[in-house]
Amino acid sequence: MSEEDLRLAVIIGSVREGRSGPAVASWFVGEAEAFGLFEVDVVDLAEVELPLSLTQRPAPEPAVVLADVGGRLESADAFVVITPEYNHSFTAPLKNLIDWHRSPWHAKPVGFVSYGGLSGGLRAVEQLRQVFAELHATTVRDTVSFHNVWEQLGEDGRLRTTDAAIPAKVMLEKLAWWATALKDARALRPYSA
Ligand SMILES: Cc1cc2nc3c(=O)[nH]c(=O)nc-3n(C[C@H](O)[C@H](O)[C@H](O)COP(=O)(O)O)c2cc1C
Repeated sequence: MSEEDLRLAVIIGSVREGRSGPAVASWFVGEAEAFGLFEVDVVDLAEVELPLSLTQRPAPEPAVVLADVGGRLESADAFVVITPEYNHSFTAPLKNLIDWHRSPWHAKPVGFVSYGGLSGGLRAVEQLRQVFAELHATTVRDTVSFHNVWEQLGEDGRLRTTDAAIPAKVMLEKLAWWATALKDARALRPYSA
């Protein structure tokens, strides 16, 4: 199995008006595509309508949206979560996405690009590691983080960054290693959660 077959879902974890998430994601997607081993799919939670209650029986329309996102997550071999920090944690829409989907994460690697104020979103990342462990996912040690992210946004709204290219490459290398190893392993022996 070659690494060119690897699919990477990049999840934008914030949805608020005026958010920085798309700027961070746009920069990272450029890095991931230049890296050359992943086919990248961006899952923007602002475009995903998931009911907040897991017991709520959704009307047909949300169910269709749900199936679409579920299929995209299921077909991914690896994930990168673009996460801000809200009140020392990650966002509610991100938790909702994770809680709605169980099997797509099983035996797959998850990397993080975080941002925020002083913390650079690192507390959100450490909490996400605990959540993904419950879902049988492997989180990648190396991360990319942006402290005081608003200082790094240009007038065009894009992220001005050169320093983060090296950590991004390190994270992508580890993600590709895990994605390849776990894809091969899942093909050899289906993962039983
Ligand atoms: C509700 C809320 C809570 C926040 N809490 C924190 C925090 O605990 N630590 C931190 O470093 N930044 C915090 N911030 C700053 C955000 O991480 C920063 O504004 C980031 O750009 C938010 O992501 P977004 O622009 O994609 O929504 C908070 C922002 C919001 C809106």
